[in-house]
Amino acid sequence: MRLFDTHAHYDSGAFNADRLEVLSSMPEKGVELILNPGCDLDSSRTAVELSERFPFVYAAVGVHPSDCEGFSPDTVDALRALAGRPKVKAVGEIGLDYYWKDNPAHGFQQEVFHSQLELAEELKLPVIVHDREAHRDCLEIVKAHPNVTGVYHCYSGSLEDAKILVKLGWMLSFTGVVTYKNARRSPEVIDWLPMDRLMIETDSPYLTPEPFRGQRNDSGKVYRVAETIAQVKGLDVEEIARITLANGKRFFGIEGN
Ligand code: NI
Repeated sequence: MRLFDTHAHYDSGAFNADRLEVLSSMPEKGVELILNPGCDLDSSRTAVELSERFPFVYAAVGVHPSDCEGFSPDTVDALRALAGRPKVKAVGEIGLDYYWKDNPAHGFQQEVFHSQLELAEELKLPVIVHDREAHRDCLEIVKAHPNVTGVYHCYSGSLEDAKILVKLGWMLSFTGVVTYKNARRSPEVIDWLPMDRLMIETDSPYLTPEPFRGQRNDSGKVYRVAETIAQVKGLDVEEIARITLANGKRFFGIEGN
């Protein structure tokens, strides 16, 4: 199998002890491509450095809503400069997170989200969106930027919202959460979703799929997401791998492989 893990955080401190070894082992585990999004300026820089070290790693640069305190026009300039590096393929991850009570104020998160969508439009890059417990506001802001498309990573919204996003040209991506017994909404969304809008990811080091929950996640476990989606869709896992690899390459504008 040749898989594309479209969202993994190898800049995370969880990989400090063995980052290069873990990444080096991925091709032999059937992982063909990895996209590493940034969560702040430092992690965006690290993502870009990793992409320049490993031929199969690509990067996105952006500031996550949980990490957006202090975001300013200077931050936008720094992101713009980083986005000029050749393996940067998206702005992300960006969005809204209303789950954590000590996150920056909702109004400020929204301003930062707007700024980064404007940057993506200027740079003609897609975006990677994080939406946690902020479905209404997130969709409103996305709709306010009709020239930007992207992917909702770790999609947790309703089927109704999924239909709106697909109509707007967006992709939906799924993590190991689909393997959990309490995954309620994702099967009906996956069952409905047109095949050309589907991507898979691990969100490593988080959201480890069954039966590995409790361990640190890495891209070598993304096949569990593909297997679970194959069951829901009634398709062969090889087919899911092939289609999600092609979708990811098309979406991020990755040539070759
Ligand atoms: Ni993430």
